[in-house]
Amino acid sequence: MKYDFDKVIDRTNTHSVKWDKSLLEEFFGTTDVLPLWVADMDFKCPQPVIDAVKKKADEGIYGYSWHKTAEYFDSISGWMKRRHNWEIDNDWIVFSPGIVPAINVILRTFSIPGDKIIVQSPVYYPFFSIIQNNGRQVVNNQLIYENKKYSFDFDDFEEKAKDPLTKIFILCSPHNPVGRVWTKNELTKLGEICLENDILVVSDEIHHDLILKGYKHTIFSDIKEEFKDISIIGTAPSKTFNIAGLKNSSIIISNEKLRERFTNAISGQNSLSLPNAFSIVATIAAYSEGDEWLDQVMDYVEDNFRFLKGYLEEYLPDIEMVKPEGTYLAWLDFSTLGMTDDERKDFMLTKAKVALDSGIMFGSGGEGFERINVACPRIILEECMNWIYKAIKSEKE
Ligand SMILES: Cc1ncc(COP(=O)(O)O)c(C=O)c1O
Repeated sequence: MKYDFDKVIDRTNTHSVKWDKSLLEEFFGTTDVLPLWVADMDFKCPQPVIDAVKKKADEGIYGYSWHKTAEYFDSISGWMKRRHNWEIDNDWIVFSPGIVPAINVILRTFSIPGDKIIVQSPVYYPFFSIIQNNGRQVVNNQLIYENKKYSFDFDDFEEKAKDPLTKIFILCSPHNPVGRVWTKNELTKLGEICLENDILVVSDEIHHDLILKGYKHTIFSDIKEEFKDISIIGTAPSKTFNIAGLKNSSIIISNEKLRERFTNAISGQNSLSLPNAFSIVATIAAYSEGDEWLDQVMDYVEDNFRFLKGYLEEYLPDIEMVKPEGTYLAWLDFSTLGMTDDERKDFMLTKAKVALDSGIMFGSGGEGFERINVACPRIILEECMNWIYKAIKSEKE
């Protein structure tokens, strides 16, 4: 079927984190803003998912639910094989209600308080807080931004990996917010350093289905046999099919010992092993029948990126968009506005009246940037850009 992503769906009063007025008030101090911040889509999810959830709703009993069926695991491993050419055993898949809860568990299971954990800023901001909240130390291997492109700083990474206190590296692949789809070569180099220094790699690949044309995602553990023994891969249908509110992710661990420790921790110590009833049927439907929808949504997202690039070139040529390779998150350099980060945040909320994720939230290297979620009807993106344009213009007058 042909999906209509131009359709604007009113998400106010739907308990949406992105649109809920009370949350906007709490987070931004205003409700009078167009929200393009949180990373979910303003599109309806695939029809087979909606049908599966409706069917479940009609059952009328929502008791404790069990996911460990061949149908559930086959839908996940089938997707990984079909879309990523990644052969996994069903036994490798461990359920978690989310990647962030899983990383919390991983930190507590595979490191001790005071240990150092590497992240690469600017990066998805909860990485910082979960490390700190668990009493571990954040070690930042900041990405290099040169010639309008992001890359890894391998020398700095190696130096930090050599520190005996460094135990875990949280990789964001593809990278939120800078939109890089890391190449096999880049990942291999980092992986070799981790292998040499006994570092566990937690590869957060939640965005791995959201790849733009011309780029190819590489599953970290699939690069070489030895990487399987030092890595845990986080995947989920949540970003891919816009079902984040259903709370489902798959933590894929091929090494038996690592998997056993993680499984014991997530179920035995954290009691997070039972999914909600709707997430099971939605996951099966999405991974079994969601291909067509995903292909269409990514075409639309790609067109939105193209629209945004054209808009900037025509109306705001001083504002640079980093070339996106994956995700639906645009990373825009507003530094030419000459405002401090606080001034720009205030400007976006009170003058442009748009709620974006200010770059500085993603750690050092995010200064001067804003992240805009383009997984919305084009008219909303256009409205957002018009409001920013008008605010900048009136500021200059
Ligand atoms: C890189 C990354 N990891 C994890 C998450 C959230 O994962 P979950 O909802 O499964 O905890 C997000 C959401 O934006 C993300 O961008």
